[in-house]
Amino acid sequence: MTRMLVTGGAGFIGANFVRHTVRHHPRYRIRVLDALTYAGDERALDPVADRIEFVRGDVCDAGLVDELVADADVVVHLAAESHVDNSLDDPSPFVRTNLLGTFTLLEAVRRHDRRLHHVSTDEVFGDLGAGSTERFTETTRYDPSSPYSATKAGSDLLVRAWVRSYGVRATLSNCANNYGPFQHIEKFIPRQVTNLLLGRPTKLYGTGENVREWTHVDDHNAAVHLILERGRIGETYLVGSGGEQTNKQVLDLVLELMDQAPGSYEHVPDRPGHDLRYAADSTKLRTELGWRPRHADLRAGLTRTIEWYRANEWWWKPDKDTTEARYRRLGR
Ligand code: NAD
Ligand code: TYD
Repeated sequence: MTRMLVTGGAGFIGANFVRHTVRHHPRYRIRVLDALTYAGDERALDPVADRIEFVRGDVCDAGLVDELVADADVVVHLAAESHVDNSLDDPSPFVRTNLLGTFTLLEAVRRHDRRLHHVSTDEVFGDLGAGSTERFTETTRYDPSSPYSATKAGSDLLVRAWVRSYGVRATLSNCANNYGPFQHIEKFIPRQVTNLLLGRPTKLYGTGENVREWTHVDDHNAAVHLILERGRIGETYLVGSGGEQTNKQVLDLVLELMDQAPGSYEHVPDRPGHDLRYAADSTKLRTELGWRPRHADLRAGLTRTIEWYRANEWWWKPDKDTTEARYRRLGR
């Protein structure tokens, strides 16, 4: 058995990763470290609870992290503060968890010579022109726009430096926007879906012309497994489905799939510094490791995701009022 420590395993991508790993990669014995912030929910791990060990704790807690890393063969690092709007409102937990947390983990990994995979975002590269056909690659210059992306960029650079200076055995991935089950309802797609399920208006920032490359969480997690198995140490791999959509297009598709009239959304004030377009070139991952998105059909993926939110009100409804109260305060 390979002992795997997953930080942030009760969050959106982490919980899907742990569930996927238990089902499809039984050679791993998994331990999850998660602080259970507002974004973490241990119930997402209920179906695999008897197959994993859950530790509630902070990735910045050096003593605890040292103990857990010493007892693992491989570490997958997903713990982070992850929402741009929250980072604009209060950057401090982002600086702490994303930078100090990654540093704490790197030091433990260095001491115990453990294999690390660092999960990051393509937002570290900043944005691309709305009308351009350019895509981010592994060598694109870092140019983050928000406190969230700046702290993720900083965490990536720490990992790269620990690889180069200390010989830490780490890989990195920078993925485009994810969607799928168990995504917190503060994020774009689940916010709109749950608004519609409650008979409330959907909310579109600014003109809705901003472009994102929606990638199903299972495709992202499959990429992480390929990188763990065959990725080259010290290398970065970009992950993205290849499909690009404006926010308006995605929202119109959600409206159609939920039997609502197109264009029925409320325009709310734009997010400050709102990145225009993200697009990741995942050629390296595809050619080197043979990755292919299995859920590249956004219509099919969204249909399943909407069904999931419809069937799992117990999971998201208790958070709806506090999430929307936070947005009301932000004017969005
Ligand atoms: P999320 O906010 O849903 O989950 C984050 C998890 O980390 C939560 O369970 C939370 O409790 C935990 N956490 C937060 N602070 C912690 C701390 N100090 N100690 C221990 N645990 C802590 O985020 P997500 O969307 O699942 O993202 C996971 C990772 O993937 C992040 O690093 C994010 O930057 C990256 N990523 C996300 C996307 C996306 O579209 N969601 C895309 C690319 C990369
Ligand atoms: P989000 O899910 O916050 O991801 P990110 O900002 O990290 O890409 O938002 C995705 C896009 O949707 C982004 O362009 C902002 C926009 N958006 C809205 O138009 N309305 C909303 O209610 C939210 C939360 C986001």
